[in-house]
Amino acid sequence: MLISSKINEGIKGSPKIPGDKSISHRSIIISSISNGKTEIKNILMSEDVMRTLDALKSMGVKIELNSKDVLVHGNGLLSLKKPEKEIDLGNSGTTARLLIGLLSAQNFNSYLFGDKSLSRRPMARIIDPVTTMGAKIKSNKKLLPITITGSNLIPIKYELNVPSAQVKSGIALASLFLDGKTEIIEKFRTRNHTELMLENFEADIKITENSEKKHILINGRKELIPKTINISNDISSAAFFIVAALINEKSDLELKNININPTRIGIINTLKKMGANILIKNKKNINGEDVADIFVKYSILNGCETNKDEAILMIDEFPILAIAASFANSPSIFRGLSELRIKESNRLKLIRDNLCICGIYSEINGDDLLIDPLKKISVKSNIIETNSDHRIAMSFLILGSKLGTDLNIKEAEFINTSFPFFKDIFNSVGGKLFE
Ligand code: S3P
Repeated sequence: MLISSKINEGIKGSPKIPGDKSISHRSIIISSISNGKTEIKNILMSEDVMRTLDALKSMGVKIELNSKDVLVHGNGLLSLKKPEKEIDLGNSGTTARLLIGLLSAQNFNSYLFGDKSLSRRPMARIIDPVTTMGAKIKSNKKLLPITITGSNLIPIKYELNVPSAQVKSGIALASLFLDGKTEIIEKFRTRNHTELMLENFEADIKITENSEKKHILINGRKELIPKTINISNDISSAAFFIVAALINEKSDLELKNININPTRIGIINTLKKMGANILIKNKKNINGEDVADIFVKYSILNGCETNKDEAILMIDEFPILAIAASFANSPSIFRGLSELRIKESNRLKLIRDNLCICGIYSEINGDDLLIDPLKKISVKSNIIETNSDHRIAMSFLILGSKLGTDLNIKEAEFINTSFPFFKDIFNSVGGKLFE
């Protein structure tokens, strides 16, 4: 349990935001199957990323860790060994979907399981395409735990039926091991860190894109060439500080080296649309990823409306965007949020329920979320259920920074899955979080 109290002097300073979670997972997997040593700088040392790291270690990859950086000794595409033990995925959906793809294409068997929250999340979206490629996977109702029997896959042409970068990446990783060309077609624009890293590691990958669809063509069996990876800081983690600064008077915040990949900056675009004072400076490109410094000041926000395409570009940010919308001077409606029901928790329901508990009017209509800060409703409690969801926990801690009453956030320990030292970092810029 963490308790969040009101802050009066704003959020000020230049906190160090941790490395990007999505890129951290990919950096370990792709370097592990490359041919030589990869130095990974500024990796996120969170519980989720450690699940990926431990899984690759258990497949015989030598991975050296020091305080911030990681050295991965890849032994080539066909070097992975049967895992020494069952693979514990913990709470990490990214580890699950990426490894199901990777392991389906190996010639050994593996067994994967996750925690309570992950065991409820759908794996059919990755099991189905890899099964079409010839993978042999045993599960109960396509949920974890699963057993993968090593087999030879065949390349396919696959159009994604869900907007999921994890599924796209799982298929892409499997395709690296196949003799021939796999084609992945996306009609939704999801995060593209896997494609960028594979290009950087000189995979045989071709990408064509038009306004309708993106085609990713991967010709397998090409050895990957290691490159030093400099991981930029995570915009999804930065978002908690950005919103905290926007809603608390006197705030003035500087966030350095934040990943602003166009497939991730939906949150910045939406907050700007709401009237946020956010400046992006010092843009550069590192390992194919766009990076910049972000400056934020307290702002009077307006409500706004977003659609499904915009939602994909900020899919992890709705819990914290909902907090921003709760302090706007008009209602907001966020459309097309069906994917939020199958995140670490049913985020759509938990956002609505927890806002209403705190006295902020919110309703769900189909897949849309409405937040009306102008309608007054009574506060029901100060206890926030998070159902093991790190982003719900951090978002409601930020809400607590603005309210007059302390909020008690349950299962706050799950914050460590993505943002170790969140409490200390938030308190170092003016936050008031207590155990
Ligand atoms: C991620 C993709 C998204 C996102 C998750 C990380 C990734 O999930 O919600 O936090 O690293 O590929 P989906 O692929 O389910 O949309």
